[in-house]
Order: sequence, then structure tokens, then C-alpha cells
Amino acid sequence: GNGPLVVFGSIVQDLISYTDRFPRPGESVRGHHFLAGSGGKGANQAVAAAKLGTKVSMIGRIGNDMFGDKNLEGLKKEGICVEGIEKSNSVQTATATITVNKEGENSIVVTLGANMELDDKAAERNEEIISKAGLLLCQAEIPDSGNKRAFELAKKHGVTVFFNPAPGDPNLDKNLLKLVDIVCVNENEAEFITGHPLNSVEDAKKQALEICKFGPKSTIITLGAKGVVISENSTDPKHVEVSRVEAIDTTGAGDCFCGSLAYFLLAGKSLEESTQKAAQVAALSVTRKGTQASYWSSNEIREKYPELLG
Ligand code: RIB
Ligand code: NA
Repeated sequence: GNGPLVVFGSIVQDLISYTDRFPRPGESVRGHHFLAGSGGKGANQAVAAAKLGTKVSMIGRIGNDMFGDKNLEGLKKEGICVEGIEKSNSVQTATATITVNKEGENSIVVTLGANMELDDKAAERNEEIISKAGLLLCQAEIPDSGNKRAFELAKKHGVTVFFNPAPGDPNLDKNLLKLVDIVCVNENEAEFITGHPLNSVEDAKKQALEICKFGPKSTIITLGAKGVVISENSTDPKHVEVSRVEAIDTTGAGDCFCGSLAYFLLAGKSLEESTQKAAQVAALSVTRKGTQASYWSSNEIREKYPELLG
């Protein structure tokens, strides 16, 4: 449809320390840089899409605190409709304590706070927003009950559902996938769904088809530097290669990929072309520090890579 991208998902205050290497248990290492920024897989994906020019509406929950206000402001600044963002009076805004080493890898402790109140009732309170969506995009930093109800409401109103079950959880309710049109997973998340190891592009091709059998029409498996495998409408899986970049900070790159993919899909591109282009946009984000703060805007992209956004 012509409606906006609706993200039903998490909002998190990111607190990022940059160090040479991760501390071992009981050890204290020195950070050489610190960054506080807006994060959360839901908000990250919403912002990635908005920065490319998508109309975005976000449904989420924050606490009645400083971090909540800051994150809400950030979303507004990106032009995102925040009508569906509710304030909890009992639970704090989520936080993620993140360490990034000199290879650009991260380790994260996320305390989900108010996101865990984004349940089935919250989905119902926001049915009108969901009903008008051109695409519904969800992640796994909220209760399964919230995602399930949001998916059901999307189906009721003929809205396409795009699910990124991240971070991976071996206990993910696989029934959720029955309500999903497009699913995007990394290697780990694919293994949790299929129940067997994924070690090669060939494995990924097999698992993409397997995952489609759980419900999604199309499956996308991201493989880091090895590229992406897609099965569009359960057809013969294809391997999409990605260009190598020097990683400064990979935090939020997966979210940038999902949000950008939503942008290209809503712009009418095929899944294959959308995947190729979204991978390029996500690669740009790892060259900068931070999560949302590292995402490139459409103007920045047009200046350096005029063909990418068309
Ligand atoms: O995917 C990256 C995000 O995961 C971070 O922004 C952090 O908030 C964690 O939830
Ligand atoms: Na980044």
C-alpha cells in the first residue's frame, strides 16, 4: 500500500564505550572514547528508513525519565510520527551498555525496561496506526505477545509483515512466523529457527527454503562479509555479495540493513535489488561510530554514491 512504514518495536538508550579489547571477568580496561546515543532495534530501523526518506510511524514505550525524553526527541527530529509512543509510569527507559573493541565488534547488555510493556494490549491500542501501514516492521526486543498481536492486526487490515527476530532467542515462538510475509535473520537466528548449524552459503540457501516453510513467503539470511542469501516467494535461493569495508563500529548495522530494506521495498524495488542496495547502505554505517548516529542520510549518500538511491 501507500501507507507509511510502521515500526512496532524497541527504543533503547545506548551507552557505548570504545576500548582496545573486551574486559575479562574481574578485569577493568580503559576506554578511550564514550558515546551516549539513541538505539534499540526498533528505533534504529525506523531511523534508518526515515533517513533515506521513508514516511515512518513508530509504536513503542519509553519510561518517564531523561533517557525517554531524549530518545523521543531524536525520533521527532528524524521526522518520525511518534503518536504511537507511550510513556510508562512504572518502568524505566531501556538501556544498552555496549563495549566496542578495536576490531569494531561489540558486546551488549540490554535491559529492556519499558519495551517489555509493549504487549498485545499495546498493539490493540495502536490498531489504527497499524491498519494504515504500507509495511509493518518488528523485532524481538519486546514480548512475543506484542509481536503476535501486531502481526494479527496487520493481517486483518491487509498489511505486509516484515519481521527481524533479533536478537536471536532459541525460545522464539515459531508460530509467530506463520503470520510473517518477509523474515530477515542472521546466521545465529537462522540456526535457532531451523535447529541446525549454518556454516556456508550452501547451508544458508537450504535454510532459507526451510524457514519459508514456517510461514514467511520470503526469507533473507544475512551472512556478514559473506553477503546475503534470499529466497523471494519461496523460490530458488540467490546469493547477493556485499562489498568489504573497514569496520569502525558494526553496532546497529543489521538494523540499518532492515530499515533500508524497508525503504527500497516501499519504493517498489524487487527483493533482490532491495537487498543489494540495503547491504550497501548498511556497509556505510559501519564506517562511523554509534548506532543511529552512524546512519547516513539520503543527502549524504546522494553526494558520494549518486546511483545508490536512484
Ligand atoms: O542492534 C543494535 C541495538 O541493539 C543497539 O542499538 C542496542 O540498543 C541493542 O538493543
Ligand atoms: Na555504526
